[in-house]
Amino acid sequence: MLITRHAEARALLADPRYVPPPVRQDAEAGTLAWLRAQVSRFSSGQVHAERRRLLTALLATLDAGTLRAAARALTLEREGAWRGVPATVLGVALGFDGDRRLAEAVRAAATGYLSGEESPEADAAVTELVRLAAAAPPGPVARISLLLQAHAATEGLIAGALAHAGPGGGVDALLHETLRHDPPLTATRRVHRETGAEVVIDLVAANRDPDVFGAPEAFDASRGETPHLTFGAGVRPCPASRHGLALAAGVLEALLTLEER
Ligand code: HEM
Repeated sequence: MLITRHAEARALLADPRYVPPPVRQDAEAGTLAWLRAQVSRFSSGQVHAERRRLLTALLATLDAGTLRAAARALTLEREGAWRGVPATVLGVALGFDGDRRLAEAVRAAATGYLSGEESPEADAAVTELVRLAAAAPPGPVARISLLLQAHAATEGLIAGALAHAGPGGGVDALLHETLRHDPPLTATRRVHRETGAEVVIDLVAANRDPDVFGAPEAFDASRGETPHLTFGAGVRPCPASRHGLALAAGVLEALLTLEER
């Protein structure tokens, strides 16, 4: 079943009978499949609630303003080469070393982390992340999962916003409308716990539902914050929307500053 309407998407995301498609639990330690079996994102019920609590506690130790300033400074330092900046800034805030190996391992593991596609490269990257996490405080799986969740979504948001950036208008307004109009994650999936029925929620369509958004196809940064579903909703919305926005805003501010020079 494909869900395209905003109200139906919200109702489904709030229904605890619909859970993420299960992931295999028999993988060798240190591999991509092993990591996916340990994290909040792909678990459900009580296990999900407990893992999510740990993530929320970790995220509460990170200050969005500090992330924004650090993302801005690193993008300026790298003279606009912004790819890898969100992962590095977040990694440092989570206690990792900020060298290039971290961003490289995050990049190599992130696609398979979301899709489930296993590969020797992704397994090697997860092993490297576990090694890098061992040098820092407790909760390695939670900290790695934050980096992997953050990577593609935040970089996708920045790339989307850059495509719409123009003179005038603030960075924050630009990001809010980019989230609605061009969500970096375009769909999410659920499975009914009892019947096994599969559902795809089309976030692009839900964010352009004419019952909720006037002139939905138009990119209009003056809308400000809207009830888009790009950060999910219900049982398991993105716990780091403020962090993602802060990282993206810092990078964009630096890019606009460099452009003006
Ligand atoms: C900036 C762009 C971002 C977008 C658009 C985004 C979007 C989402 C969405 C839609 C979900 C829910 C998926 C579902 O319901 O199936 C989600 C979950 C999650 N996001 Fe984000 N995210 C972003 C950035 C981040 C960042 C920066 C972090 C970490 C610092 C993060 C960490 C997470 C985690 C850990 C979950 C899983 C929550 C759970 O298991 O309950 N996200 N994100």
